[in-house]
Amino acid sequence: MYTLDNPKYKEARRRAADLVKKMSLKSKIVQLTMFMVDENTYNPEHVEEDGEMLAGRCGTLLAATGIDRLNKYQKTSLECTPDSIPLISGCDVIHGYATTMPIPLALSCTLEPKIVRDCSAVAGKEATVEGVSWTFAPMVDIARDARWGRVAESFGEDKYVASKMAEASVRGFQEDAGILSCLKHYVAYSACEGGRDYNGCEMSDQTLFNTFLPPFKAGIDAGAATVMSSFNEINGVPCSGSRKMLTDILRGVLGFDGFVVSDYDSVNELQNHGYAKDEKDAVLKGYGAGVDVLMLGNLYNRHLPALVAEGKISEEQIDASVERILAAKYMLGVMDEPFFTSEGKGGWLTEEYREIARNAAKRSFVLLENDGILPLIPSEWAGKKIGLTGPVSNEGDSVLGCWASAKNPAKTVLIKDAMEKAYPDSEIVFTNGVCFKREHSNPEESLEILKDCDVIVACMGEHARESGEATSKTCLDLPRDQIEYLKGLFSLGVPVVLLVSAGRPLIMTDFVNRAAAILYIWDPGTECGNAVCDVLTGDYNPAGKTTISFPHRSGQCPVYYDHKMTGRPTIGIPNRTFESKYIDCPVGPLYPFGYGKSYTTFEYTDAEISSDTMERGGSVTVSCTVTNTGKYAGEEAAQLYVRDVVGSITRPVCELKGYDKFCLEPGESHRVSFTLTEDDLAFWNADMEYVAESGDFICRIAPDSGAEVKKLKFTLE
Ligand code: NOJ
Repeated sequence: MYTLDNPKYKEARRRAADLVKKMSLKSKIVQLTMFMVDENTYNPEHVEEDGEMLAGRCGTLLAATGIDRLNKYQKTSLECTPDSIPLISGCDVIHGYATTMPIPLALSCTLEPKIVRDCSAVAGKEATVEGVSWTFAPMVDIARDARWGRVAESFGEDKYVASKMAEASVRGFQEDAGILSCLKHYVAYSACEGGRDYNGCEMSDQTLFNTFLPPFKAGIDAGAATVMSSFNEINGVPCSGSRKMLTDILRGVLGFDGFVVSDYDSVNELQNHGYAKDEKDAVLKGYGAGVDVLMLGNLYNRHLPALVAEGKISEEQIDASVERILAAKYMLGVMDEPFFTSEGKGGWLTEEYREIARNAAKRSFVLLENDGILPLIPSEWAGKKIGLTGPVSNEGDSVLGCWASAKNPAKTVLIKDAMEKAYPDSEIVFTNGVCFKREHSNPEESLEILKDCDVIVACMGEHARESGEATSKTCLDLPRDQIEYLKGLFSLGVPVVLLVSAGRPLIMTDFVNRAAAILYIWDPGTECGNAVCDVLTGDYNPAGKTTISFPHRSGQCPVYYDHKMTGRPTIGIPNRTFESKYIDCPVGPLYPFGYGKSYTTFEYTDAEISSDTMERGGSVTVSCTVTNTGKYAGEEAAQLYVRDVVGSITRPVCELKGYDKFCLEPGESHRVSFTLTEDDLAFWNADMEYVAESGDFICRIAPDSGAEVKKLKFTLE
C-alpha cells in the first residue's frame, strides 16, 4: 500500500514533495520528531530548560489517545508548527485495543493468516475510535529463544509462518482499519545473546538474510508504511546507527519506500552503547544511518540544523525523509482533514469483535497431551463434580497478555464464569489453590475441597507481567508455588486437566506423564473463558500447532527446529545423526515446532513425489494422503519440510516450505499436495547470491517438524 508502485501512494508522495519544496529547514526537521506529551507540556507557554518550546516542534506523538485530547493538541500544533502541518499519534496497538486478542505468538499457532488479519483489523478499528493513526505493530522478530520475554509478541520461530502473518497483519491494520503499520524491531532484535532483552548479537549476513529478514520483506511487500529501528547491536554496530541495515539493506535490498522510526530513545542510546560520543554525534550517526523519525526527545530539532550547516547531513536526505512522512499523512487524510473524529469508526467490544476474539483464541490453543479425558462433553459430565482451580481460573487481567493497549479486565470472560454456564448440570467446585497474589493462596484447604471431584481443571501459568519487554528469564518453570500445588493435585488420584496460560513455552516436562491432558492457552485475551469452554466441551476440536519449540529444560534454550547439523555423530541416540546434545537432556525439544494434538487422530500415508529431478525453471509436486482415523471431526495442518542436503554454506536440518490446514470428518481423507519451484529452494549462499544450488533435497509432509514420516528425495539439476 505504501509502495511506489501504488498510484495512490505515488500521488501522495508527489503532493508531499511539492510541500517540502516550500518548507524551511526548521519546519522540515520538526516533522522528524516524535514527542510524548501531556496537556501541561503541549502548549505554547511550556518552555523546556534550554529555552525551547515543545508545542509545534514535532510531527508525530507517542501514545497520545482520545479524540478531545488529540484535537486539542492538533489545534495547538496547527497554530504553532511552522507551515501548520497536522500531527498524528502512534501507539502500541499490538494484539487488540479494547477487545484484547490472543498474543501474537498464540495467533501464529492457528497457522491462519486470516485470523491475524481479522484481529489486526479489529485492533486498528478500535484504536481509530480514539484518534490513533499509527500502530507499532506487527513485531516480526524470529523468536528462537524462550528466555526472551518478547517471544510473546512474535509470530514464533519460523520465517515462513512469520512472513505469512506479517503480511496479514500489515493488511489488517492498513487496508482494513486504515492506520499505518510498523514492522519491528529492525533487525535481529530477537537474536539477543543469552535471551536477554536489548542484548546484541554477532550474526553473519547469511543468517540475517536467510532467517531474520524474510518477515520484514513480506511486510514490506505487503506495503508496510513504517519500520522501527531496534535497540540492539549487530556485529558491533547498534541498529539505530547502522547505515548498512537501515539504508543499504532496508531500502537497497528490501525495497522499503516508507519511513523509519527509531525505537524509544534508541538514537540517544547510541551514546550508552559507546557508539556516539555525545548527543550531536548520536544524531549524526542515527539520522545519518536512516532513522527518519526520532521516537522521543528533542535531539533532531537541537542538532540537525548545525549538522546540515556543517555539511555532515545533506538537506536532500532531510527532504526525502519529510516527503515520506508527509506522504503517509496525505494517505491518512489528515493533511486534508486534520481533526479527528470517532464518528463512523464503529464501537468497542462489539459482539462482532468479541466473536473474532473468541474464534481466534480457541483456534490458537495447542493441545500438548490428552490421554482421552478431553473433551469433557457436558452431557457426559452431568451430575458429576468438576474441580476448577489455579490462579488463571478466575483472573481477567493476566490472560489479556503483555501488550493489551486499552484493556479492561472487568470485561474479560473468566474461565470460572464460562464453565458454570457451559456445565449447567455438573457441579463446578471452585477454589483458587494458588493465586498470583500469593497472600490469597490456600493450597491445603483447596486440596481438601477438591479431593472428591471427578476431574480437576487446573489453570496455571505465568503472569502477563512476566512476558513482553524486558522480561528475560533464566528459568522457564511454572512458579514454584504452582508446581508444589500441582504435585498435591496429582497426588489426589483425580484426573487433572492442566491448562497453561503464558507468553512463552514454559517447561512442561514433569507434567507430561502426570496430567491427564495439557492444553496450552497462551494469553488468550478478552474471550478467554468462552474460548476455553469451546475447547473443553468439545464444541471446538483444538487444532493449534505450536510455532515455537518447547524445551525440556530451560538450559536447552535456544532450541528451534531449523538448526544446523554438527560434524560429530550423535552417538547412542536412535534416529539422531549429527545433532549437538546435552548429557542430561534429550537432543530435541519436548514438543517440536509445528506440534499440536487433536481430539481425533490423523494418519499420513501414500507420500509421493512427481519426479526425482527438478529442472531449472521447473517444479516437483510432493503429496500424501491424510486420513482422520479417530472419532471426532477435526482440523489438521499438514506441513511440508525440505532439507537442502549439501550447500555452499551448511543448511538447516529442515525448513518449512508450506502447510495445508483442512477439516476432516471421521474416516475422511484429504490428498495434500505442494508444488515446489526453484524459488522455494533459493537462499543467500556463500557468495551472498540468492540462488537455489544444484544437488539433493529431502522432503516430507508431516504433522510437525519432529515427526518421523516417509522421506522423499529429488535432485535439482
Ligand atoms: C519500546 C518497545 O521496544 C517498542 O516495541 C515499542 O513500540 C516502543 N517502546 C513504544 O512504546
